[in-house]
Amino acid sequence: MKVAFFDTKPYDKIWFSPLCEQYNIKVKYYENKLCEDTAVLAKGYDAVCVFVNDTVDKATIDILCSIGVKLIALRCSGYNNVDFEAAKDRISVVRVPSYSPAAVAEHAMALLLTVNRKTHKAYIRTKDNNFNINGLLGFDLSGKTAGIIGTGQIGRIFMNICHGFNMNVIAYDPYPSNDESIEYVPLEELFSRSNIISLHCPLTPDTKHIICADNIEKMQDGVLIVNTSRGKLIDSSALIEGLKAKKIGGAGLDVYEEESEYFFEDFSNEIVEDDELQRLLSFPNVVMTSHQGFFTKEAMQAIAEITVKNLISFENGEVINEVYYNDKKRRVIEKRD
Ligand code: NAI
Repeated sequence: MKVAFFDTKPYDKIWFSPLCEQYNIKVKYYENKLCEDTAVLAKGYDAVCVFVNDTVDKATIDILCSIGVKLIALRCSGYNNVDFEAAKDRISVVRVPSYSPAAVAEHAMALLLTVNRKTHKAYIRTKDNNFNINGLLGFDLSGKTAGIIGTGQIGRIFMNICHGFNMNVIAYDPYPSNDESIEYVPLEELFSRSNIISLHCPLTPDTKHIICADNIEKMQDGVLIVNTSRGKLIDSSALIEGLKAKKIGGAGLDVYEEESEYFFEDFSNEIVEDDELQRLLSFPNVVMTSHQGFFTKEAMQAIAEITVKNLISFENGEVINEVYYNDKKRRVIEKRD
């Protein structure tokens, strides 16, 4: 099997190369992101392997199909960057449904602790022999209410972590789990009761801008918002207004609406033209990381192993961990094998 990897970083090669060699998968690593302009680079390959910020829209899929590519293997769990209606009956799409939900949940708590206790500021101060603690005041998480939007694998682990901090936990999910210990509430109630809101749902037409101006209005004053899911869950301009009005007490963001242009790359010597990104970074109470929630050794190992398993199964005629569009149900269906 021959696979063209897109948006490859050095750490991808570390985990993928030994496994691909072991299973005789021939790999070409491209640093370019997959999109309409780069899809032709996959000519002569059976599959493309892509990540969160590759563009797998209809135009890209048309080119992949025309040059004989049979499989799109996502080396991630989210798939909002794929046009499944365009892929239907033409090219298979597989993903890594789960690799280390703990990695993302733990990163969400790291962001929450940082924003609340201002360790990002303290680190810089003490490095400069400034031992003043003025302005670093936080609040106890113990006894506060965390509102979790999306109680899947990551959301549930984050809930357990919050319980470990002695927090009250409430949740919203249109497809609730049958775990009776979870206190599900309507979304409006979650907004009005939560001191902390953490997003753990996928990006869909229903969840796009779930954090918008109207919903920010309904929140507690000083609410802290954590987003480790997808950037477009938050309307960035509404978040900026909420921060300026001091309605929002802080935000921990591992994802950003327009991240595909910048995240995973070094722009430290460039003029970044995205004014909203720059405004968000200017707030002392916003901590941003560039989509590194997944980035642990355990997660990277699991991503490589499951992706290689997906590739080998496909070569042997079995499509596992497939995601596809179902006409009758008019929605995208996820398989977990
Ligand atoms: P999951 O599929 O296990 O859980 C998602 C949950 O969201 C499900 O319980 C589902 O019912 C719920 N949901 C669906 N529509 C909803 C809505 N309208 N409102 C509220 N909840 C809704 O997914 P998992 O593994 O927990 O991942 C969650 C998200 O985390 C992914 O969609 C992905 O975007 C993001 N992610 C981020 C990573 C990072 O590095 N920052 C890495 C991996 C995933």
